[in-house]
Parts: sequence; C-alpha cells; structure tokens
Amino acid sequence: MTKTRSIIRGVGGYLPEKVLTNAELAAMVDTSDEWIQQRVGIKERHIAAEGQYTSDLGLEAAKKALEASGVSADDIDLIIVATTTPDYTFPSTASIVQMKLGIHHGMAFDIQAVCSGFVYALATADSYIKNGLATRALVIGAETFSRIIDWTDRTTCVLFGDGAGAMVIEKAELADDAPEQGVLASALRSDGHHWDKLYVDGGPSTTGTAGHVHMQGPEVFRHAVGKITDVVYSTLDKAGYTVADLDWFVPHQANKRIIEGAGNKLGLPSEKVVMTVDIHANTSAASVPLALSVAVADGRIKSGDLVMLEAMGGGFTWGASLIRW
Ligand code: UT7
Repeated sequence: MTKTRSIIRGVGGYLPEKVLTNAELAAMVDTSDEWIQQRVGIKERHIAAEGQYTSDLGLEAAKKALEASGVSADDIDLIIVATTTPDYTFPSTASIVQMKLGIHHGMAFDIQAVCSGFVYALATADSYIKNGLATRALVIGAETFSRIIDWTDRTTCVLFGDGAGAMVIEKAELADDAPEQGVLASALRSDGHHWDKLYVDGGPSTTGTAGHVHMQGPEVFRHAVGKITDVVYSTLDKAGYTVADLDWFVPHQANKRIIEGAGNKLGLPSEKVVMTVDIHANTSAASVPLALSVAVADGRIKSGDLVMLEAMGGGFTWGASLIRW
C-alpha cells in the first residue's frame, strides 16, 4: 500500500526593485523610524514600479520556484495565486500568470483569504493533489498592496509592502512504511464577524472602485496571538507532533511583536523563528512564501526539517500548515 503526499519541490521569492525606507515615509506622514521599528519591527519595504502588476511579481517568483525545483512550466497542471490585489476584477491573476508562463493546460484560479491566502492556497493545492485532480502545482502568494494603501494614513501606510513568493508541490506515492514527507497537515479557520476590523472600503459590487485599507490595528493585534497559537496546536495535533518537534516556524510577517508573542506562547526558541518583517514589511499573501524563500536560500531550512507555516489576517481568516521538507 502507498500513501499520497504533496511533496515540496522548490520555492522562490521576488521583491520589486524600489525600496521605501522609514525615513522616506517620515517625510510623507507624521511618523518616525523609531516608532515603526519599535511598534512593528519594520525598517523598509519594497514597492512595485508603475506598470508592474501582481501577475508580474507572481511570475518572477514562479520562475524562481520552477528553477529551484528543476520542473518545467509545462509540467504544471494547477496554478493558484493567493492575492488581495489582483491585476483585474477578472480574469484571475492565476490565469494571467498561466498565460505568461506559456501554459495552455490544467487549472488556474485565485484564492482570496487576505494575509492567510498562501496557507489557504497551499492546503487547497494539497487537497487537489490528494484527490487526484492535479499532479504538480504552482502555489503563489503575490501582492501589490501599495495600490490599495491610503498613503496619507500613517496607521496603515507604514505597515505594508509589495512582493511575491511561490512554491512547487508535486504528487508522490510513498510506501506506507516510508518516512513522512511533504504537507503533513493543515488547519484553516475564518470568522466573518470580524470583517470590518481589517477591510478595504471598496469593491466591484459596492463602490465600483478598488478602495483603501482600513484597520483597527490594536483589535487585530488582540486576536492575533491566540488565534495563531490555537491553529498551530490543531495542526500539530492532527499530525501527531508537538512544538518541541518543530525545526522552523515561518509565520505571517505582520508585526515583530505578534511573531515574538506567538513564538513565546508556543515556547519556541527565537532561533527557530524565521523573521523577515524588518526587510519585507507585511506583504499579505506573499509574506509566508517570501519568508520561506529567504530561509531556504540561506540554507536554514533543509531537507527533512519539520516546518510550521502560519498566517492570520482580514476576515478574520487564519490557518497553518505543517511540512516535512
Ligand atoms: O496582516 C494582517 C494582520 N495585521 C496585523 O496583524 C496588524 C495588527 N496590529 C498591529 O500590528 C498594531 O496594532 C499596529 C502596528 C497597527 C499599531 O501598533 P499599536 O501598538 O497597536 O499602536 P496603536 O494603534 O495603539 O497606536 C499607539 C499610538 C497612537 O497615538 P496615541 O493615541 O497613543 O497618542 C497612534 O495614533 O501610536 C500612534 N500611531 C503612530 N505614531 C507614529 C499610530 N500609527 C503611527 C505611526 N507613527 N505610523
């Protein structure tokens, strides 16, 4: 007998060239490098160039993930893009990435779960693979959040950045007694009663405009650590592991204090926590795969490591995925 698993073939990340520093932001709104670093832990963020769209960022990350995987675009039969900032209302950004990669077959669609988007997309791709609907998937988190920011609102404009991350996962039939590999367990949650604590005041059906981000920051913060730790414990339970088994924790990069709070509550040593919020800021659905791509590229995450991904954001949505690398 065998068991079907989605194994990780490779990851890649892409950041647009332009860097926006805290000092530059302090010249735009009433803020300071000191406040941003102390309260959030961000030093700088990347901003997409004019004419550079979410699909362009996603495409670059996808190319890097394909290269790292040794998989050709032609072998991909599922593309999921997690994004809150699609190029167009429709078609999906995934369809555009598919076209730019020259792929004519398989499936492509977007997932909208805001900052939890990548974790939702990975769990979805894993389910498609396990159910026989797909064999090799490109899972992308890509955002041009700078386009939905009110650049006069200091409570939100200092927090976000643009970027993309991608992962190639592939169906593997492992012998029943073979060591575990790939996506071991995922847990996804949402509670729409919190929708207006973090939302955009526009959309095709309401205003006909894209709108701007609004957030009750302290309210989101208040919920974050508890929800993150709950879903991490559920995911570990499902797979029969404990926090002590984890080699790496790769959380959504919204705020250094939230990441440290969750890490402490879980009892994880800080050396096991991947932190990129200082150089990426909050890139929403791109944040987890971007952080992963950094920790894989610098050699921290290695084959055989047990890795916990986690995210929480608008909706509220939250979720986690446990991976044997
Ligand atoms: O990715 C989705 C999930 N998102 C999150 O997880 C974000 C969660 N929330 C947070 O990370 C934090 O709540 C923020 C970073 C957004 C804000 O930090 P905070 O420690 O909760 O600050 P606060 O909103 O309570 O504001 C404290 C003070 C206020 O001034 P007063 O009323 O005490 O005089 C704000 O007006 O800081 C002020 N403030 C700022 N000062 C300088 C707010 N934004 C800024 C700013 N620069 N950019």
